[in-house]
Amino acid sequence: MRIKVIAGNWKMHKTIEEAKSLARGLAERVGRPFSQGCVAIFPPFTALSEVKRIIEKSSIKLGAQNLFWEEEGAFTGEISAKMLKDVGCSFVIIGHSERRKYFSETDEIVNKKLKSALSFDLTPIVCVGETLEEREESSTFRIIEEQIRGAFKDIPEDSALKVIIAYEPVWAIGTGKVASPSQAQEVHQFIRELLEKLYSKELAQNILILYGGSVNPENIEGLISQEDIDGALVGGASLKLEAFSLIVEKSIKA
Ligand code: 13P
Repeated sequence: MRIKVIAGNWKMHKTIEEAKSLARGLAERVGRPFSQGCVAIFPPFTALSEVKRIIEKSSIKLGAQNLFWEEEGAFTGEISAKMLKDVGCSFVIIGHSERRKYFSETDEIVNKKLKSALSFDLTPIVCVGETLEEREESSTFRIIEEQIRGAFKDIPEDSALKVIIAYEPVWAIGTGKVASPSQAQEVHQFIRELLEKLYSKELAQNILILYGGSVNPENIEGLISQEDIDGALVGGASLKLEAFSLIVEKSIKA
């Protein structure tokens, strides 16, 4: 059986003190172990170290929002997988649509980052999703297929199984326009079928696929009850203790 993963992507929000305060609240409220689930938070790089200290004794996992694929070197401003392991991360988000849009990340870059994360034993959350324009011209499945094929290029099955996929329709991110449970389920199922073609039935049935895009405490239950939705990658609502805790509590049982 697949576990449920609830991930909070804090994006470019929170000073160190603000991050510590939210992490403290989360450790108290949702920091107990869940037998069938996992909670992970993704603060900005500047707060990783301090947040790690706070959540260390809880079951909450730490993740980063991005990485660079080289291990070290003259790459001003970049952070490597090795550094993320060093600070205590166990997860990393790769290919978020904001990085694709504002920092020109391509599927090729996503693939390099994915390989680097896997080689350092970080669990990657690879984001895929179509824009509104692409959905309106009925290109959703084609775009998702391109992004998945590109991300997983030359990645063997034993490594691919460790990857988590997040389906985040770009039109649903930060807009309050959540995909309906059936819209999301349709794409999640498509991703599983594609992975079965690329790898195997076993991998397709076991890999975790999260939904992201305007998830909140009111809409989480409809989404999480879909057969192929294994959790959520939450943006705005993950910045608030009450909202994120409710999303966790409604998704996974202790
Ligand atoms: P929102 O939940 O704010 O729509 O953001 C989703 C997201 O981009 C998570 O990575």
